[in-house]
Amino acid sequence: MADVTLIDHPLVQHKLTLMRRKDTPTAVFRQLLREISTLMCYEITRDLNMTLEAIETPLTAMQAPVIAGKKLVFASILRAGNGLLEGMLDLVPSARVAHIGVYRDHDTLEAVEYYFKAPEDISERLVIVVDPMLATGNSSIAAIDQLKARGAKHIRFLCLLAAPEGIRHFTTAHPDVPVFTAAIDSHLNVNGYIVPGLGDAGDRMYGTK
Ligand code: URA
Repeated sequence: MADVTLIDHPLVQHKLTLMRRKDTPTAVFRQLLREISTLMCYEITRDLNMTLEAIETPLTAMQAPVIAGKKLVFASILRAGNGLLEGMLDLVPSARVAHIGVYRDHDTLEAVEYYFKAPEDISERLVIVVDPMLATGNSSIAAIDQLKARGAKHIRFLCLLAAPEGIRHFTTAHPDVPVFTAAIDSHLNVNGYIVPGLGDAGDRMYGTK
């Protein structure tokens, strides 16, 4: 059974609808993406392990909860992943950041890899991979192949929209990686776009079309 979590919080769903509208301007789209990624980051980190730390309040000493273990890694699949990164770093500013350059060949829809930079001790950290669109699954599968090849063991994947075809492909390739998404749309069209979707996420956030 695929491990897919739908983040159906009303604020996430409302903001997603605003982002889907074709007349939403670039600046508003980018701001909404930042807000939605903060909310989704809250959900994807909800089960992190906690430990107790001795602190002193102005009144007394106490054992208070803090997040256990090493800092998280947020791994952005360039370039659209960067749109999710900002809002997540607003919430977890001490997270480490990995960048993975993968683009989709527009003719073959295959993933082409061109860049990889991540913290060296990635095997000891929880890695949250971010890309707004899980369409064919090719880019995210390739990115996670690279992370695993460098030792990453604990990985989660966060996207805004997923196509059923992409979820099937992704969870077959990486059954150990849970997927978190705000919506599962109807299908992919012949050009590999998610329908109804929101168009090209990178173009919409950077105004390149
Ligand atoms: N990438 C996008 O930006 N949009 C889609 O619909 C599919 C892939």
